[in-house]
Amino acid sequence: MTPDSSGFAHDYATAILRRGREPMPPVDFTPDWGDAPRRGKYYPAATAFPLPAPEPVPASLDTALRASAGTAPRASGNAAPGSAGGTAPGGPGAADEPFTLPLLASMLHHSYGLFGRRLGIQANTDLAALPSYAHANWYRGTASGGGLYPCSVYWAAGPGAGVPPGVYYYAHARHAMQRLLAGDVTDRVAAAVGPQHRAGQFLIVGVKYWQNAFKYNNFSYHAVSMDVGTLVQTWRLWAGAQDRRIEPVLWFDQAALTDLLGLVPDDEALFAVVPLTWAPAGGAGPAPGAQAGGDRSAGPAGGGAGPAPGVRVRHADQERSRRLLEFDTLRRIHRATATALDRPPRGALAAAAVPPAPPDRPRIPLPEPTPMPMPVSAALTGRRSSFGRFAAGRPMPAADLAALLRATAGSTVPCEIDAADDRPLARIHAFVNHVAGIPAGGYGYEPETHSLVRTTAGPPGDFLQRNYFLANYNLEQAAVVLVPTVRTHAVLDATGDRGYNLVNATIGAIAQTFYTAAAALRVGAGVALGFDNVSYVEELRLADTGEYPLLIMLAGAERAGLGDYRYELR
Ligand SMILES: Cc1cc2nc3c(=O)[nH]c(=O)nc-3n(C[C@H](O)[C@H](O)[C@H](O)COP(=O)(O)O)c2cc1C
Repeated sequence: MTPDSSGFAHDYATAILRRGREPMPPVDFTPDWGDAPRRGKYYPAATAFPLPAPEPVPASLDTALRASAGTAPRASGNAAPGSAGGTAPGGPGAADEPFTLPLLASMLHHSYGLFGRRLGIQANTDLAALPSYAHANWYRGTASGGGLYPCSVYWAAGPGAGVPPGVYYYAHARHAMQRLLAGDVTDRVAAAVGPQHRAGQFLIVGVKYWQNAFKYNNFSYHAVSMDVGTLVQTWRLWAGAQDRRIEPVLWFDQAALTDLLGLVPDDEALFAVVPLTWAPAGGAGPAPGAQAGGDRSAGPAGGGAGPAPGVRVRHADQERSRRLLEFDTLRRIHRATATALDRPPRGALAAAAVPPAPPDRPRIPLPEPTPMPMPVSAALTGRRSSFGRFAAGRPMPAADLAALLRATAGSTVPCEIDAADDRPLARIHAFVNHVAGIPAGGYGYEPETHSLVRTTAGPPGDFLQRNYFLANYNLEQAAVVLVPTVRTHAVLDATGDRGYNLVNATIGAIAQTFYTAAAALRVGAGVALGFDNVSYVEELRLADTGEYPLLIMLAGAERAGLGDYRYELR
């Protein structure tokens, strides 16, 4: 690892923001689609066992959103902070019921497993290729930049999970676990995350860069770090709806775990470790010591002779691409975040919160949000991108906009440096095109008053379309375009380079909530990174607060009667 990468996250963030004005090299890059990588890793020699069939989650999306906001101090509207974890005793999200193998299997299926094949008519350039089986677009519960799904999910299984202890890889296409290593290595994972996060079972989220970089080159890090947030947020929604907890650790010893998993450090990074509370074999409730954060050495779930120190995964992913490219900036930002080991103290994020909106700007109170009683699993299954299907003819009810705003503003990625009184890192802005009873214009959402704070007046359609890079959406036809912002440099100042992962995971979590809520509201949705961020800073007057507009999230009615073909796998 080169020391000169330290501090590079600031430069990368600025380059990403300005890339619409000063293109990031390599300019005029064309992906080699004929030599594209797989959308998952391939371990041909690793044994696999099939996972239990997924079960639907009957709890509503509203329940899931309340639970996930309840465990997150930085989520807006979380009014009852308790301990440093922010969860009020007995409040939403307070439960920490144990996972079981069927529950884990179901959560993985609803997040990264394959649901079916997309064949609807839309405005993306890949449309003509979709009917060919070789180019089939298999969809999942979680959104992903470019549909490339670069996250790898590893399970470090200790004793008591109903499978031989070891390291497993979630083979999404087969809904199976592949064993990469035999033996209990949870002590090694605990050593990498710190003793306070000790658990009997861990999920580890990695990103294989080439899976995304073959298309997005140096921009890749920006996209994949959001993908981590979309995946974790699906888990949080899914788990929160069932009284389970997902609280990732983001500052840990990546090099130690990279070595354990047998990865090449510059090829795949590890972004999050999630300790899981687990049920004892054949019993109810967590095993003593099986609680995430508990002392495993004290209980029967602990112990078990692990493999000798230095043992590591020997199976290697077999890459499909014949020609792999390296991208300097991607490598540098990866090294900067991967080697940033120092965990900031709890409360470090206080200085990076978004400040309150100016008191003198006019406010428009929003109505009560439209309820979202749809079961979580149905909302995840129904989630999809609109890709050009918006039609402005039917304005969005203001209560639907209120639901999207409250849900997205309440979404965050809780982590080990949160303090009970932390304020939100993100703000949601809204360009209103066609919402009943709300004048067209630009606004900031104020969760405390559940109102829109006016920034600009007049229809924003022309601004939006002028500053969009791709041809697959007419942004003016969307009822509303939401824009999450974070004070990226303030987060990096407060937390160091690895804070970049938190910034983008937060945006990813917001995006995934947005999609899932839109599905529950039965409105069209899409998110996009292809816009001129600098113009958005100017239009939304964000220069003073240092907020970076990081994504655009479009919602609205869709054109009726477009061609589709249902192709569902289960
Ligand atoms: C972080 C992120 C960035 C995305 N960027 C874009 C984008 O720039 N343009 C776009 O049309 N879609 C974008 N999408 C949507 C994905 O292309 C979409 O989720 C993926 O192709 C899967 O399709 P589905 O959402 O219909 O299941 C993005 C999604 C995520 C999570």
